[in-house]
Amino acid sequence: MEQAEIGLIGLGVMGANLALNIAEKGNRIAVFNRTVEVTRKFYAEAGDLQGQIIACETMQEFVAAIRPPRPIIIMIKAGDPVDQQMALLKPYLSQGDIMIDAGNANFRDTMRRFESLKDSGLTFIGMGVSGGEEGARHGPSIMVGGTEDSWKRVEKVLTSISAKFNGDPCVAWLGENGAGHFVKTIHNGIEYADMQMIAEIYGILRDGMGMSASEIGDVFGRWNTGRLNSYLIEISEKVLKATDPISGKPMVDVIVDAAGQKGTGKWSVIEAQNMGVAATAIEAAVSGRVLSSQRTERLAAETILGLPSGQGAPQDSTAFLSDLENALLAAKIAAYAQGFAVMAAASREFGWNLPMPTIAKIWRAGCIIRSQFLDEITSAFTKDPDTANLIVTPAFATMVKETDGALRRVVSHAALAGLPVPALASALTYFDGYRRGRGTANLIQAQRDFFGAHGFDRLDGVDKHHGPWGSGLATLS
Ligand code: 6PG
Repeated sequence: MEQAEIGLIGLGVMGANLALNIAEKGNRIAVFNRTVEVTRKFYAEAGDLQGQIIACETMQEFVAAIRPPRPIIIMIKAGDPVDQQMALLKPYLSQGDIMIDAGNANFRDTMRRFESLKDSGLTFIGMGVSGGEEGARHGPSIMVGGTEDSWKRVEKVLTSISAKFNGDPCVAWLGENGAGHFVKTIHNGIEYADMQMIAEIYGILRDGMGMSASEIGDVFGRWNTGRLNSYLIEISEKVLKATDPISGKPMVDVIVDAAGQKGTGKWSVIEAQNMGVAATAIEAAVSGRVLSSQRTERLAAETILGLPSGQGAPQDSTAFLSDLENALLAAKIAAYAQGFAVMAAASREFGWNLPMPTIAKIWRAGCIIRSQFLDEITSAFTKDPDTANLIVTPAFATMVKETDGALRRVVSHAALAGLPVPALASALTYFDGYRRGRGTANLIQAQRDFFGAHGFDRLDGVDKHHGPWGSGLATLS
């Protein structure tokens, strides 16, 4: 029997969809699931694609069915299960075989796993896959990290199954070891920020302007034909227009306002801090989810503190709607600039040489943050791959100047109306902080020196690093 080009372990929703996508694109695939019934059911329901699938019931049979060096995708719950699965698989593998973790792994686990296989003759790929079920089935965005040789072994299959943007495949090898999972983590951090900002705008439209869910859906629908065109705006319109079959109310109005999270957003904030990069919009989005989940406390606080008696709806709603659209665009720019800055810092730290234009390129289709906007980011990084920050590239500097006034008006309005907009506000203060040549940290340096003799640099370059604070500190240098 002809051997499979690739293997896949874990036929849960994502694994099954990915396997069907691989088979459909003309690649022979061997599949295995630890519960045999799941494998049988998957095969039975594969219809016309059965001819491309080798459904295996033992690990031995599974490994033998794949052409060496064997690339094996592991698509199971992130964390310890991946280590357990790797330990079970390892004895069956031989020289050059590649274990591929396609889950949302913490890139530090990926680095460890990669390292642990180093002297074994086996290798490891950490592969970020974005696009949810639909993406896995019909074309995800794929971020690959591992050795270049292991990438070459899987390049053809992954290219065939990836999403395409104007014919360009949304898959790339991004660097050694943890590079792929790191980029996926930052993708998710940006995803959190994008979603939070859309939700904040929704809050202004709902609570500040008194609009119904379906009216807000119409607004998003209009925006989706303009510069905000993106998957997240598109689904927001659909969600806002859906009706709950049980109550007959707008679906969104019966959903509890407490957001879940599985960790990738939090990791991107932790790594931003580890790399010394200000990723304030992403931080605000993660904290926003945390506060949302404390629903009981919020309800109790509302009864104690009450809502702020803020200003009412804006006078000119047409002008304000246009401000909201531009404000969302401006805030998005900050979030993406921050995400890319974190990746640039990590690239230096881990020696990955992350290709920024390529990352923007493979996010243009297939993934959750896909958008027109990412095509503009691709152009900006292609022209200036080593820019210090996306917002100082010519195209984005122009965009910031065109839209930050609207963001300022929206954030001011929200503050006066008592509506929480943490991510929008953090984006505004990020611009204001980043663009101001003379900041206020001179005072912080003086304070640090006063209480801890930490020293400071002088603007005039004079070689004297302590202040005249008394208690002898002035004489330290
Ligand atoms: C994607 C998504 C996907 C998933 C994440 C986020 O790129 O396809 O990011 O990976 O939605 O798990 O999940 P949480 O919001 O639950 O953290």
